[in-house]
Amino acid sequence: MIILGIETSCDETAAAVVVDGIEIRSSVVSSQVDLHARYGGVVPEIASRAHLELVNGVIGDALVEAGIEFGDVEVVAATRGPGLAGALLVGVSAAKSIALTRGIPYVGVNHLEGHLHAAWLQDPSVELPLAVLLVSGGHTMLVGVHGDADYELLGETVDDAAGEAFDKVARLLGLGYPGGPVIDQLARSGDPQAIRFPRPMQGDGLDFSFSGLKTAVLHHVRRHPEPDDAEVADIAASFQAAVVDVLSSKLDAAADQIGARTLVVGGGVAANSGLRIEVAAMAGETGRVALIPPPELCTDNAAMIAATAWWRFRTDGATSLADGAFPNLKLPTRV
Ligand code: KG4
Ligand code: ZN
Repeated sequence: MIILGIETSCDETAAAVVVDGIEIRSSVVSSQVDLHARYGGVVPEIASRAHLELVNGVIGDALVEAGIEFGDVEVVAATRGPGLAGALLVGVSAAKSIALTRGIPYVGVNHLEGHLHAAWLQDPSVELPLAVLLVSGGHTMLVGVHGDADYELLGETVDDAAGEAFDKVARLLGLGYPGGPVIDQLARSGDPQAIRFPRPMQGDGLDFSFSGLKTAVLHHVRRHPEPDDAEVADIAASFQAAVVDVLSSKLDAAADQIGARTLVVGGGVAANSGLRIEVAAMAGETGRVALIPPPELCTDNAAMIAATAWWRFRTDGATSLADGAFPNLKLPTRV
């Protein structure tokens, strides 16, 4: 089954063609980062307008790259939430228009479920249950995946998301937006032990807190104003080490709790090289398997949406065209 997926929940306009939920024929991502960078974060109104301008071209590119035509698409899917309302509406409306004009089913997909499915997309034969650390700009959660659509929420952040912490720390260091990739890059030349930043809530359950860590970095910068390049690299490396320590140790504890042999990391922060190395090392030490999708499947993309749509369509069928966009949509979890 050939599925066209569309993702417009935040600041990436993306479209992809995925066959049978596993074979990626194309995955096109047009990032709006440059448009938002000078504002230090995503401006919702600018995001919606840019999605409107980009979405048709991105869909066209995805079809061309996949070597197919509109008539070959059997199901069209789009992210229905969570995300920015105006941004989501562009992708949802585009998908519904295609469904209506081509007479094919529409499937609305939960963005968080999409991130969870990125691991399955990479390895369809993965052994369940999975302990998944889902870390993005808007979410930080630990999820036990026991089967398709059988998700157990094990922990989540009580304040900032991990990606948000990267973005805020980068801003206070004057490094621009988005912060994650810049800090990741700088951390490579810094000393992760230069400054001992706190590891909030480490060893204390499976919930997270990052606002105190961000404040600790702020206090450090106030005490040491105008750091030179080497000092900025040390701050970046020390901050990243603190985040990575907390994230990886809680993922390990989550796997213990549900008896998972496979560790998965997903979401934009899963592109972080320090986190990838740490989780892989930890899996090796504990006799587990680390499944970390390539960075382009971790950050927002439409391949994960098209892949998830295949599962949802098999079980739940088409989504009604009367269904809308849901900015605060939650991951459906076991109660
Ligand atoms: O999943 P994503 O692309 O969008 C959301 O759904 O939020 O995640 C974006 C977040 C941003 O906060 C960005 O700074 C962070 O992921 N990020 C990273 C890296 N690449 C992206 N954080 C740390 N290291 C990276 N290499
Ligand atoms: Zn995301």
